[in-house]
Amino acid sequence: MAIDLSVSWLGVNMENPLYNASGVMCRSREELDAVAASAAGALITKSCTLSAREGNPEPRYATAPFGSINSMGLPNAGYEYYLDYAKIYDHASGKPLFVSISGMTLEENLTMLKAFRDAELPCLVELNLSCPNLPGKAQIGYDFAASSHVLSEVVKVYDKPFGVKLPPYFDPVHFAEMASVLNSFPSLKYVTCINSVGNGLVIDIDQESVVIKPKAGLGGLGGDYVLPTALANVREFSRLLDDKHVIGCGGIKSGREAFMHILAGATAIQVGTCLYEEGVDCFARILNELAAIMEAKGYSKLADFRGKLRTM
Ligand code: DHB
Repeated sequence: MAIDLSVSWLGVNMENPLYNASGVMCRSREELDAVAASAAGALITKSCTLSAREGNPEPRYATAPFGSINSMGLPNAGYEYYLDYAKIYDHASGKPLFVSISGMTLEENLTMLKAFRDAELPCLVELNLSCPNLPGKAQIGYDFAASSHVLSEVVKVYDKPFGVKLPPYFDPVHFAEMASVLNSFPSLKYVTCINSVGNGLVIDIDQESVVIKPKAGLGGLGGDYVLPTALANVREFSRLLDDKHVIGCGGIKSGREAFMHILAGATAIQVGTCLYEEGVDCFARILNELAAIMEAKGYSKLADFRGKLRTM
């Protein structure tokens, strides 16, 4: 049976639904080019700020028993670098380019959004409302009134379709409250669920120590630790959002988790920890595994099972 992994959404066609999670393999042109040259169906840049940043002191990423912990602190080359990349990127390649924006203030976000608007490029913005690694700065996505205010200001200057990266939520009341905020913005066309589970603590028992330096060891968790939380967020936001897509991110390391995210309702899926650990070859492997699962189940396209999770 021929397996069709293609996805058409937001006016773009992707050969397959899989790409990098923002933050992994996307800070430099070389890394972005490597994702573009891989089997990934799209690519997304590192979250950018107005000015370039060094980020937090190292070590700031560590492999952990069931995934990863990081507190990078938004190291990035400044938004103009990614804007320049978007200008030279081959948009006809069939791999959509997403640009992640994470200003230190609302004003920074608005300045960057205006620059991307004025450049009139066919790239898609993912506004990050959920960086957990800036000492002293709360994640906007956990403040519903602040999220609503930010989005109201964003849509005043940015009239193109865009998306947001959300933190994980852990309570049905919070899913509903955030969905209600998001549903009031028609040009918000997609949400990415989830960012890392913020401010976990991984301990090395031999060293009796934390494993990363920033924030006394606290950092965002990724990998196996976060899969059930990611699936719950994908599932609940797909049910609660009107006419918006959900991109699944969290714990995808094989065709099995890719299948689970799509079954929970994801249109597209992103890989973070596994990509960091394995490199860009993970894309072809995961896609082959996903196609094999679909074949075994008799599915020929993603729409055959997307969002069709059974409940009891
Ligand atoms: C960083 C981490 C995040 O989870 C995020 O959304 C943005 C930036 C970081 O530490 O660089």
